[in-house]
Amino acid sequence: MTTADAGQRSSDLASDKSNEIDKPAQGAQAVSPANQSNLDMNAIIEPVAHEMKLVEEWLTTNLIDDSAFVGDLLKQLFMSGGKRIRPLVSLLASKASLQDESVDPHHCKMSRLHIILAVLTELIHSASLVHDDVIDKADTRRGKATVNKRFNDKMAVLLGDLLFAQASICLARIMNPNIVGVYGQVLGDLCSGEISQMRQQFSLKVDFDAYIQKSIGKTASLIAAGAHCGAILNARDNLVVQSLKDYGLNLGICFQIVDDLLDVTGSAASTGKPVGGDLKNGLITAPGLYILERQDDISSRFAELIQKGKIEEEEGLQEAIAIMKDYGGVEQAERLAQSYGEKARQSLAVLADSPARQSLSDIIDYVLLRKS
Ligand code: FPP
Ligand code: MG
Repeated sequence: MTTADAGQRSSDLASDKSNEIDKPAQGAQAVSPANQSNLDMNAIIEPVAHEMKLVEEWLTTNLIDDSAFVGDLLKQLFMSGGKRIRPLVSLLASKASLQDESVDPHHCKMSRLHIILAVLTELIHSASLVHDDVIDKADTRRGKATVNKRFNDKMAVLLGDLLFAQASICLARIMNPNIVGVYGQVLGDLCSGEISQMRQQFSLKVDFDAYIQKSIGKTASLIAAGAHCGAILNARDNLVVQSLKDYGLNLGICFQIVDDLLDVTGSAASTGKPVGGDLKNGLITAPGLYILERQDDISSRFAELIQKGKIEEEEGLQEAIAIMKDYGGVEQAERLAQSYGEKARQSLAVLADSPARQSLSDIIDYVLLRKS
């Protein structure tokens, strides 16, 4: 399928005024992110299980290209076991914010536009990760060789660009200028979040404000976009739209803090990434920031390990990790993640009670408990 064909397919979807969503093609895989905690992920997905299958089908079978080589690469990328948290949040928020039929029968059912929105969100996420692996010189992601490792940086930059192009086609098919504006802003936020992070490397001047701003840029802005654009499609009022945006922002910050914690407390086997990789790259995240805040002998030693580049060697890295674990850095960062999780939960109060709203709440616990 050419890009034009892919656009046409999106166009077909967008121009279909019916609210009916097709059954997924035979053989489409159900999405089941690893059950990483006591929470039952299948129960969380349940309210949008059918729509998640359609998203999965789109990502793994519809994203083909004229070039068999590129088509295979895309397929491998999307079959490599991503958690699909972003499309899941997007679909659940879309469903939880549907209009009541008695109020507006045109916006009371999930439509194909909600599916495209969820696909678009995952496409941008995947594109940014392919580029991020070039920036971070990462060899593995999700336990598999990255595109830059398998081929080279040029290939990874171009594949990431191709995914952004596919995302633009989805965006065009949604035909909503507000949503184009939101996702345009997200692309800028992703880049400026990465630029801030680069400028913070090996710097002891990073504070929590800069850390949170960077986390919003690189992670939370995209989750927030997916969370509130469904409510825009559903023609909901500003209170609902803004509440879902706040939900996504706070969930996204919570997600990033947990990600940063896993760099310290996780295992390479479960995260698919080397332990301590952030710190080794000079990135001081929440658990390290709490140590620096102490302003005592412990924080001086921690700062010394960073300033003298000792964290780039195994012995110094292990010492820094032990300090974050033994002197409360990890515990305090866990509490910080929980506080953002609770803020996200509070934002759901404006929505009517529904299974989709319950799942949005359960995702917060899933994110807080995740191990990969
Ligand atoms: C992962 O961070 C990276 C991101 C969440 C966003 C990366 C964004 C870009 C590279 C900019 C994208 C470009 C355009 C044109 C919008 P991480 O390194 O902390 O996570 P990881 O450990 O999973 O790699
Ligand atoms: Mg990275």
